[in-house]
Amino acid sequence: MVNTETATRILENLNTAVLLFDKALRLKYINPAGEMLLAASARQITGQFIEELLPYSGEFTAALRRSHESGNPYTEREIQLCLASRQTVTVDCTVTPLNEPHLESELLMELLPLDRHLRIAREESLQAQYQATRTLIRGMAHEIKNPLGGLRGAAQLLERELPSAKLKEYTQVIISEADRLQNLLNRMLGPNALPHKRLINIHEVVERVYNLIGAEAADAIKVTRDYDPSIPDFEADPDQLIQAVLNIARNALQAIDGNKGQITFQTRIQRHFTIGQRHHKNVACISIIDDGPGIPPDMIENIFYPMITGRAEGTGLGLSIAQSLVNQHGGLVEFSSRPGKTVFTLSLPLETNNEH
Ligand SMILES: Nc1ncnc2c1ncn2[C@@H]1O[C@H](COP(=O)(O)OP(=O)(O)OP(=O)(O)O)[C@@H](O)[C@H]1O
Ligand SMILES: [Mg+2]
Repeated sequence: MVNTETATRILENLNTAVLLFDKALRLKYINPAGEMLLAASARQITGQFIEELLPYSGEFTAALRRSHESGNPYTEREIQLCLASRQTVTVDCTVTPLNEPHLESELLMELLPLDRHLRIAREESLQAQYQATRTLIRGMAHEIKNPLGGLRGAAQLLERELPSAKLKEYTQVIISEADRLQNLLNRMLGPNALPHKRLINIHEVVERVYNLIGAEAADAIKVTRDYDPSIPDFEADPDQLIQAVLNIARNALQAIDGNKGQITFQTRIQRHFTIGQRHHKNVACISIIDDGPGIPPDMIENIFYPMITGRAEGTGLGLSIAQSLVNQHGGLVEFSSRPGKTVFTLSLPLETNNEH
């Protein structure tokens, strides 16, 4: 039998969030991991009803009440909880009703946060997916470019031999369509220039895109800024980063599609951040947040692939180009999306040789 002091020490040091509710489902106890997960202090939230703690997770709290009433334990894996701050976290959840004779019934809840684990797993698959596509595209583009050059050259030769100028219209169609295809292939191949890096401030980049998008957006769309001015300067190619942020911000604009909406440009610093296998002490994050309809669920897995588009007039290259430009800076583009809130975040390491 462990004594109370030991039990408390264990609870206080667990990585699993442990919450205890009384019979009315009011919070009685929360351990520090729980405080971290809910981003609230025990003092603030003790005594609150479960529905107050998780006001946007109605289905979940209803399931808890059912479990409490029936006395049956309840387990669910990888659920998304929307916190009072409207942040979402992914957790494995176990709920155990405690019904001991002579004691008031209670409910014990364990929440194991998975986001970090999921994020790394997803990030790795994202990088692998990205590499595989690029190899495929390089091969394919190479195979198309040679015959295309031949076709264009032949059309030019033919044009010189044509007896009537009127027929040139046709050779011109061949030439201009060949050029259009060539252009598309070049865009699919992604940036071919290495970044021209210089010391820049991240806000140089974000301000430029903010102004461009502000000018493009209809009046009904509010474009706002939320900057952390303390982000230090770092070495980067501003033109490439502008292109990357612009591609993402234009998508947000197109997603809102003339309706009323809001786009926010946010900058933050993240400490101790892993990109791929590399750990970085400081990472600059640019988030583009929109309140449009969100990414269609069937596209979520493939969104960074070239040619994946949900728009009739889209080429589906914007995001794949943004990802490769940011990769060239040792960074990564990630997103989360639900109807009403889509966030694309570009993470850029602030130091170039900081793998510790
Ligand atoms: N913020 C967003 N909200 C909703 N859907 C989005 C958002 N960003 C991207 N998408 C979806 O992802 C698709 C792919 O975007 P991407 O920028 O790669 O290509 P595109 O915008 O279709 O074409 P292009 O950028 O090459 O003109 C879009 O067509 C759209 O369906
Ligand atoms: Mg786009």
